[in-house]
Amino acid sequence: MSLTWKLIWFCAAAAAVGLLVVQFRAFAAPPSKTQAGQTLAEQYCARCHMIAPSASKGWTDAPAFDAIANRPTTTLANLTTFIQQPHMHMLNTGRPPAEASALATYILSLRKN
Ligand code: HEC
Repeated sequence: MSLTWKLIWFCAAAAAVGLLVVQFRAFAAPPSKTQAGQTLAEQYCARCHMIAPSASKGWTDAPAFDAIANRPTTTLANLTTFIQQPHMHMLNTGRPPAEASALATYILSLRKN
């Protein structure tokens, strides 16, 4: 086989693999808002808060996310608003609206009833 043909085969094979990967991605479910919120919580909140009932305690006595979720006064709206404001004078605590909304959705997913 000439070098040119080898190259053509190589490119065709690479393209086929690429196409398969793209199709697989398309079939895989996009991450839900709850999952997005959980990822953000791991990134920005887990140092201080217990972000899941099974998670380890952070280094402050910040209330656990499932405890916040189970308070009758907690609503999606007031959580989303709160999360947009910095608290404890810390960087990374005031999140932009879309992230705050995902975080609030995640926290409320921990509500038991
Ligand atoms: C530096 C530590 C720290 C980080 C990081 C942090 N928090 Fe907090 N958070 C606290 C502490 C301590 C409290 C309790 C005192 C207060 O309300 O200010 C609190 C309170 C809260 C409350 C209110 C609970 C209540 O009693 O009403 C919410 C909601 C909250 N945090 C969400 C978050 C979210 C979401 C993140 C991540 C984006 C986050 N926190 C990151 C320390 C932290």
